[in-house]
Amino acid sequence: MTDPAAPHDAPGAEALRERALGSLVAARERTTLLTTCVEGPDLTAQHSPLMSPLVWDLAHIGNQEELWLLRAVAGREAMRPEIDSLYDAFEHPRSARPSLPLLAPEEARRYAAEVRGRVMDVLESTAFHGTALTEAGFVFGMIAQHEQQHDETMLITHQLRQGPQALTAPDPDPAPPFTGPPEVLVPGGPFTMGTSTEPWALDNERPAHVRETPAFWIDTAPVTNGAYTAFVEDGGYDDPRWWTPEGWDHLRRQGLYAPLYWRREGRQWLRRRFGVTEPVPADEPVLHVSWYEADAYARWAGRRLPTEAEWEKAARHDPATGRSTRYPWGDADPTHEHANLGQRHLRPAPAGSYPAGESPLGVRQLIGDVWEWTSSDFLPYPGFAVFPYKEYSQVFFGPECKVLRGGSFAVDQVVCRGTFRNWDYPVRRQIFSGFRTARSADPGEG
Ligand code: AVJ
Ligand code: FE
Repeated sequence: MTDPAAPHDAPGAEALRERALGSLVAARERTTLLTTCVEGPDLTAQHSPLMSPLVWDLAHIGNQEELWLLRAVAGREAMRPEIDSLYDAFEHPRSARPSLPLLAPEEARRYAAEVRGRVMDVLESTAFHGTALTEAGFVFGMIAQHEQQHDETMLITHQLRQGPQALTAPDPDPAPPFTGPPEVLVPGGPFTMGTSTEPWALDNERPAHVRETPAFWIDTAPVTNGAYTAFVEDGGYDDPRWWTPEGWDHLRRQGLYAPLYWRREGRQWLRRRFGVTEPVPADEPVLHVSWYEADAYARWAGRRLPTEAEWEKAARHDPATGRSTRYPWGDADPTHEHANLGQRHLRPAPAGSYPAGESPLGVRQLIGDVWEWTSSDFLPYPGFAVFPYKEYSQVFFGPECKVLRGGSFAVDQVVCRGTFRNWDYPVRRQIFSGFRTARSADPGEG
């Protein structure tokens, strides 16, 4: 709660407060870039029925920040109570949002900025302990993560948008071709999944609990465009053997023939990426595939998708200590040496890049580059408790959503860690999704 005179913080609170401030500022810089690189009409238009107009994301970011940091934490009155329902994601589906009386771009910008101005005072005067919401600055971290999640959402909208290029970024540094083993053996046995100690981990990542997995092999790097093209050219999209019945049905109905944004010209595959058409680079992890496509490729390759537990074990289990680390490379926060994160580049780096980011067993690019589909449904961990609102995770638990892990080039490090869980419907592919494959070490298990 607010105590302007003297917040009595637990040790480490000043570092967390600095991190909260830095994360909120970084998120707003990203939001500003994504909402000023195009003109007004591109902010209010709906570029796809799958997405909100960009101007909706902008005001929704401000509204969530007002709800949690000004009203819930500081007890302030609603600034504009009449707009709350417009920006409630559960009241209006994305497809209906363009016809709502949304704040115009300038108004949305002013609203979000006004909220942020007031939040700066609240952040300074709030003790980072005493309530579950403010403990270790959780709610400030939650709101920075929320904004960064919408910054990825807005980048997805930019990719869907037709028209000339509006965003540019340098390409990842060229990497020498990867020459290591194509797969890595992860030993069987228990490991710790999830977390009870990461201060800003969201409810679905909690609590830490022990999981057993049998031994399995997992790809050293995500599946590349080159490997995926071999599946396409082998007639993978014409052969029901590789697809689940639902996947096959969806594929036929939609007339799918390759990843989203791909088109064939003569003997070459081209893709559209942020307004530019270019040859599909063979060495880059494949992007914009649905769970159905990832699952079908794996079956064609004589393999399968990893389970969510296998993915996390490959990413966090250190066989030397038996501990689970925060990231594949250890407990240190990500740097540019570890992973391709934060929209620093607008594409994944070639498969096998980032040797400094590899796990103790040598698995690469688990964090950053592309979200990785797993075979698992999005389900609560044993001991799950809603915190602080059921619409973040709980309403999505069940067999309809599949888990994605690791984070794409488009996510910021504040919303990316070895325990972080993302999810989506198995048909979705406008997201920055790829995958890697696995196989059981005991051949009897297939
Ligand atoms: C966790 C990415 C599935 O975008 O629907 C944003 C994140 N939740 N606002 C989504 C989220 C509320 C969520 N995902
Ligand atoms: Fe949201």
